[in-house]
Amino acid sequence: MRHLLSMDALERAQIERLLERAESFEQLAQRPVKKVPALRGKTVLNLFFEPSTRTRASFELAAKRLSADVINFSAAGSSLEKGESLKDTILTLNAQQPDVIVVRSPHVGAAELVRSWTSAAVVNAGDGTHEHPTQALLDLYTLRRCFGHVEGLSVWIVGDVAHSRVARSNIIALQKLGASVTLCGPPTLIPPGIEALGATVRYSLDDLHQADVIYALRLQRERIDQLPLPSLREYAACFQIDERRLGSRQVVLHPGPVNRGVELSSAVIDSPQSRIGAQVQAGILVRMAVLYELLAPAPAPQQANVREIA
Ligand code: NCD
Repeated sequence: MRHLLSMDALERAQIERLLERAESFEQLAQRPVKKVPALRGKTVLNLFFEPSTRTRASFELAAKRLSADVINFSAAGSSLEKGESLKDTILTLNAQQPDVIVVRSPHVGAAELVRSWTSAAVVNAGDGTHEHPTQALLDLYTLRRCFGHVEGLSVWIVGDVAHSRVARSNIIALQKLGASVTLCGPPTLIPPGIEALGATVRYSLDDLHQADVIYALRLQRERIDQLPLPSLREYAACFQIDERRLGSRQVVLHPGPVNRGVELSSAVIDSPQSRIGAQVQAGILVRMAVLYELLAPAPAPQQANVREIA
């Protein structure tokens, strides 16, 4: 793997290899000193042109746990825009000779553009409404920990599918690992033709009991000019996952940040059926695995595992 730009570009075997690698880092997370020298001397540049709490912090922590040096560049508040200015920024930061550039941008295709301007490996940490591959990987990891497998699971992705890069990466990733995907939300938030990606579409939660996993999405208000809904209250009445709608064996995921009381009720967020905390923990392990796969020296015939590199 040279870059990680989309789930689309990953084969099932590569996904499984990344998940196994992430699992091998699990024991490290239990140690008092959570650090190995695997990426000593390597530099990771975190380039965030959009707000982020979880993704940015976990890429930073993942890099540090592997002993890489980290530079955080945030464009918040600056007048940086797509196009030339992004190119100039990359060319300038390239002079610091990063080995990996992790990039988040509001623009579809930004990570691909960055890849064309640098010799560093590039990781897409979310490009507009397009893809967010490490989020899908951490979701797969969470489901494997929860059910032991992803194959055969029925996953309902509920909410603002139209503006969600998380939905897109997950629709692709879940199916590559053998899950079936149902997309559910108001017609204004389900893009026409999305069935072409292999998912089923529903416009009500009537059959939600069929789901093993309910994946709730935030309304991406920063990407919506005018709310395509009568009101948030009406949205919640029709699509909020609350204790009344949640079956006793169903598991709830959400990429965060959650709007309490909109897509999920407070009781559901705080219930043992919610795996939102596990998703955040998986984020560090999966991002360690991605950085390791991109940067660690080519493995000897027998693949290195965490015991050998510790
Ligand atoms: C998601 C994102 O930024 O796409 N969040 C995340 O990475 N944890 C989803 C969201 O912002 O709703």
